[in-house]
Amino acid sequence: MKRVAVIPGDGIGPEVVAEAVRTLEVLRSSHDVQLELVHFDWGAEKFLKEGVGLPAGALEMLSEEFHAILAGAFGDPRVASNQHAEEILLGMRRGLDLYINLRPVRLLDARLTPLRNRTVTDIDFVVFRENTEGAYCGAGGFLKKGTDDEIATQEELNTRLGVERIIVAAFEYAGAQGRKRVTMADKSNVQRFGGDLWQRVFKEVAARYPEVEANHQYVDAMAMFMVLDPAQYDVIVSNNLFGDILTDLGAAIQGGLGLAASGNIHPGRVSLFEPVHGSAPPLAGKGVANPIGAILTSAMMVEYLGYPAASQAIEAAVRGAVSQNETTQDLGGTLSTKQAGDAIISRLG
Ligand code: NAD
Ligand code: IPM
Ligand code: MN
Repeated sequence: MKRVAVIPGDGIGPEVVAEAVRTLEVLRSSHDVQLELVHFDWGAEKFLKEGVGLPAGALEMLSEEFHAILAGAFGDPRVASNQHAEEILLGMRRGLDLYINLRPVRLLDARLTPLRNRTVTDIDFVVFRENTEGAYCGAGGFLKKGTDDEIATQEELNTRLGVERIIVAAFEYAGAQGRKRVTMADKSNVQRFGGDLWQRVFKEVAARYPEVEANHQYVDAMAMFMVLDPAQYDVIVSNNLFGDILTDLGAAIQGGLGLAASGNIHPGRVSLFEPVHGSAPPLAGKGVANPIGAILTSAMMVEYLGYPAASQAIEAAVRGAVSQNETTQDLGGTLSTKQAGDAIISRLG
C-alpha cells in the first residue's frame, strides 16, 4: 500500500485533481494499484481564513508518512503576494529537496500541435529542470525602497552539488531510456559565473557518459529551435528559471498547458506530482478546464510508485480519448472537465 497526499489547491486545481483521483480509483480494480489517498485543504482559502500556507510540521509529515504527493495548482487573485503558493509549492520543492523537475514534452496526436507539418515522432523529449536553487533561491533585497533611487537585487544561486546532480540525472535518464542526446541550455555568454559553473560541470559529467551525445545551446536559441526543429531534442537540462520558461513553450507545442504533466522528484524519497499549468482563475468553477495534464501527472506518479503498466494504461486511455476528439474546448472538443475525465476513465477498464 502506497500513501499519497492529495493537495488540490486553488482555482481549477480541485476540478482537475478530482478527475485524476477518479482515474486512480479505477486503477485499484483494473490494475491492482493499491493507494491510500489522504486529502489536504492547503491553499488560498485556508491562507485567507487562518493565515496558514504550509502548516507547521507539514514537510516532516509528508516525508515520514507518504510516498508521493499529488497537487493541483496554487495561486489566487485574492492573495496578491502569492505568499501561500510560495510557501506550499516552493516550500515542498525546496524543503523536500525535490531537485528534479521532470517535464515530458510529447505530442499525443499530430492534430494538437500549433506547429505546421509535425508528427508525433517530431515532438518527444523530456526536460530536466533544476528545482531547488537558481533564481528561485529567494535571495535579494531592496535599498531605499519606494524612493526614486530605489535599488532591488535578485540573486541567482548555483551550487556545485545542485548543478551536478541535475545534470547527472539527465544523463542517467538518457542512458536508461535509450535517448541519444542531452542538450543543456544556459546563458553562459552573459552569465559569466553561474554559466561557467554549468559549462564546466556539464562537460565533466558528459565525459562519464560516452554513449550519450552532449550538446549545448544558448537558451534564446533553444526557444527558437523548439519551435523550428523540435525533433532534435531528446533530453534537455537547464536551470530553474530557464526550465520554467522552456516548459511552458514545451506545453504549447504539445497542444497547450492543459495537457502538460510534471514530477518534482528526489529519487527514493516522497516526491510531488503536479500539472505544469496554474490555477487559471478565469476558468475556475466553470467545469471547462482540461483534466489531461492532471491525469497524465497521475500516470507519472503511479510509475514512480512502481506501477508501470497502470501508467501506460492511463496514457493509452488519454491517447484514445484525444484521437476521438473527446476532449475539453481548449483541444477543440465540446466536453466538460468531468466528461473529459469520463472519456479517459471509460477506456481504462
Ligand atoms: P495558468 O497556467 O493558470 O494559465 C495560463 C493559460 O493557460 C490561461 O489561458 C489558462 O486558461 C490556460 N490553462 C491553464 N491550465 C488549463 C487547463 N487545465 N485547461 C485549459 N486551459 C488551461 O497560468 P497564469 O494565468 O500565468 O497563472 C494563474 C495563477 O496560477 C497565478 O497565480 C500563478 O502564479 C499560478 N501558477 C501556479 C502554478 C502551480 O501551482 N504549479 C503554475 C503556474 C502558475
Ligand atoms: C511552475 C510555476 C511555478 C514556478 C510558480 C507558480 C511558482 O510556474 O510550476 O512552472 O515558477 O515554478
Ligand atoms: Mn511555470
